Amino acid sequence: MGRVEGKVAIVTGAASGLGAADARLLAEEGASVVLTDINVEAGESLAKEIGGHFFEQDVSDEPTWQRLVAETVDRWGGLDVLVNNAGIAVIADIEKTTPEIWRRTLAVHLDGTFFGCHHALPAMAASGGGSLINMSSTAALVGIAPYLAYSAAKGGIRSMTKSIAAHCRSRRNGVRCNSVHPGSIDTPMVHAALSGLGGPKPEGERFSDKVRRDLGLGEPRDVAQLVLFLASDDSKHISGAEMVIDNGDTVVQLSGPGGN
Ligand SMILES: NC(=O)c1ccc[n+]([C@@H]2O[C@H](COP(=O)([O-])OP(=O)(O)OC[C@H]3O[C@@H](n4cnc5c(N)ncnc54)[C@H](O)[C@@H]3O)[C@@H](O)[C@H]2O)c1
Repeated sequence: MGRVEGKVAIVTGAASGLGAADARLLAEEGASVVLTDINVEAGESLAKEIGGHFFEQDVSDEPTWQRLVAETVDRWGGLDVLVNNAGIAVIADIEKTTPEIWRRTLAVHLDGTFFGCHHALPAMAASGGGSLINMSSTAALVGIAPYLAYSAAKGGIRSMTKSIAAHCRSRRNGVRCNSVHPGSIDTPMVHAALSGLGGPKPEGERFSDKVRRDLGLGEPRDVAQLVLFLASDDSKHISGAEMVIDNGDTVVQLSGPGGN
């Protein structure tokens, strides 16, 4: 019996990186998974491999959310889990961030997460509850100079999550909402970021073990294990939480390497 046996889950940005690892693990643990992405080829191929269903979607486009939730409920009779994972990261600090970079970053992360929660919540509440899992970042907790818009968007996801959790608790609708805050994880987003900042390049789809160790990077499956926990009933008493998954990077930044 899998840990999410019989549950119906939507994972956005599931064609690559963390979303792909989430979709794979949720499927392995018994969920019916709907994978969404703008990357149709990679999304369809992974959906086929793990026995999921692919839905083409730009998360910043609200009408696709209405169709996605309606089709999911029609097909599987309900919706239990939504992982708002899709994201982009453009390297630009406060001086280099253009209005276009600002608006697009907020549209994908903040509009996407808002539309997802807004449309999934009634479907979850109708069947007695569910789990909204919003992918934020440690950027929401400390801010990252070369990622101005990204840090702002992830901070917004953090506080949006808490507002939704408070609402659900007051409505006693059984829906939980939590944010996940990874540090740097070995995915194509980080490969692009590091090479853009003059760092190492991956070997194929991932960094070598040595580079990953030297840079202190996590693996997508590490984050997927946390997403699985939040999707499962094992986390039934957890809502409004910010789950940091960074092997202590944030506390070291805040306290100094000697713990001062
Ligand atoms: N990798 C990390 O170190 C890290 C750390 C903290 C947070 N995150 C967050 O985790 C999430 C996944 O990141 P990743 O590292 O796997 O990146 P990734 O680039 O490997 O994957 C992102 C996926 O999102 C999809 N996507 C982009 N824009 C979209 C849109 N408008 N609509 C639908 N899909 C879209 C892409 O096609 C891609 O498949 C993001 O929200 C990211 O900000 C990543």
